[in-house]
Amino acid sequence: MQSFTYNTPTRMEFGPGKESEVGALLKEFGAKKVLIHYGGGSAVRSGLLDKVTESVRSIGLDYVKKGGVQPNPRLSEVREAIDLCRAEKVDFILAVGGGSVIDASKAVGYGLATERDIWDFFVGEAVPTASYPVGCILTLSAAGSEMSNSCVITNDITGQKRACDNEYGRPKFAVLNPELTYSLPAYQTSCGCADIIMHTLERYFHNGTTLDITDGIAQCLLRNMMKVAQEVLEKPNDYNIRAEIMWCGSLSHNGLTACGGGNGDWAVHLIEHELGGKYDVAHGAGLTAVWGTWARAVCSKHKERFIKLAKTVLDVELDGDEAVEEGIHRMEEFFRSINMPVSIRDLGINPTDEDLWDMAKKCTRYGSVGGMEPLDEVGVYEIYKTAL
Ligand code: NZQ
Ligand code: ZN
Repeated sequence: MQSFTYNTPTRMEFGPGKESEVGALLKEFGAKKVLIHYGGGSAVRSGLLDKVTESVRSIGLDYVKKGGVQPNPRLSEVREAIDLCRAEKVDFILAVGGGSVIDASKAVGYGLATERDIWDFFVGEAVPTASYPVGCILTLSAAGSEMSNSCVITNDITGQKRACDNEYGRPKFAVLNPELTYSLPAYQTSCGCADIIMHTLERYFHNGTTLDITDGIAQCLLRNMMKVAQEVLEKPNDYNIRAEIMWCGSLSHNGLTACGGGNGDWAVHLIEHELGGKYDVAHGAGLTAVWGTWARAVCSKHKERFIKLAKTVLDVELDGDEAVEEGIHRMEEFFRSINMPVSIRDLGINPTDEDLWDMAKKCTRYGSVGGMEPLDEVGVYEIYKTAL
């Protein structure tokens, strides 16, 4: 096994009605003036925004509101929000939404704490050394941003979607009420479930040895998620099912399933980021569209890991190469069963060969991608091409 740091400073408040206590929570964390940051309108329509605003107002905190964060959050919106916060002397950012709103809020937090241009942190020109505090009320179980150190922003001029991973990016608190996710459309719920599963898979496929406990947690998360991802389509308003998904979402991306392991692979995420940046596809769907192709491209050198996954998570009773292929096949069948794409054209887009090379070039602009199996520009292109 490898030595590791496990840093999860985010306070979790989980349960029905917790969003109404957010004012007191903000006060406890020292907020004086809060940016209430939200997305395209779901939080307004559900009445959540009013509830949150009332909680902040009634505790005596000053606040300013800003909506309009889009899925695959845009750099231009982040810049506007930074300017607003500076003008309004905001000292705490409250994200009300899914991963996009939380990520945009994290970027605002970084931006307020620096004189640099915020995009420098996303293209490796600089590393954040501070952030204004961010808290969140989660409305979509998916990205795991509520506990992660990651923040993903799309530059709306260049179409680049880039991540900034930094420990200052972990939220101070996260309010998780599974009921807030009842209003999600089925497609968005499935995208979220796919992303949660992928966060565990990306860490499960790593380049070292690990602890049985870590593999066991990963297997449990995957089995559980595959079960509830199907159940939720039948019972979208079942509290326990939504709660399982929500808690799995946070645990899948807070580093727990990486403890003791080598470098996680993450190539599938980086391959998806180019699809998201160029075509604005939903993140979870972009991941399942390429996963099977990635798996078949790399499995021959990592058979043991694939066989273990097939046997412990997917109940495959075959051995050797047959187990590997059957495991990949069953995972793709599962994605289909929750209406997720298993090819790029399934996403409703039709990139040209030139587009595929462009994405492969951008994906590998800092070198090979893939902690378990490195892929260069040609390797990434082959995956796009085969996954078409
Ligand atoms: O904007 P509104 O109107 O709120 O609608 C959103 C949006 O259209 C809607 N939605 C959210 N909660 C809802 C709801 N609709 C009805 N009822 C609710 N309760 O869902 C749509 C998608 O929201 P978004 O926040 O974009 O989804 P998600 O949480 O999947 O976040 C995706 C973003 O997170 C990044 C992705 O790349 C993508 O940009 N990721 C962030 C990570 C991180 N920070 O750790 C890791 C992930 O791997 C991922 O890369
Ligand atoms: Zn993801």
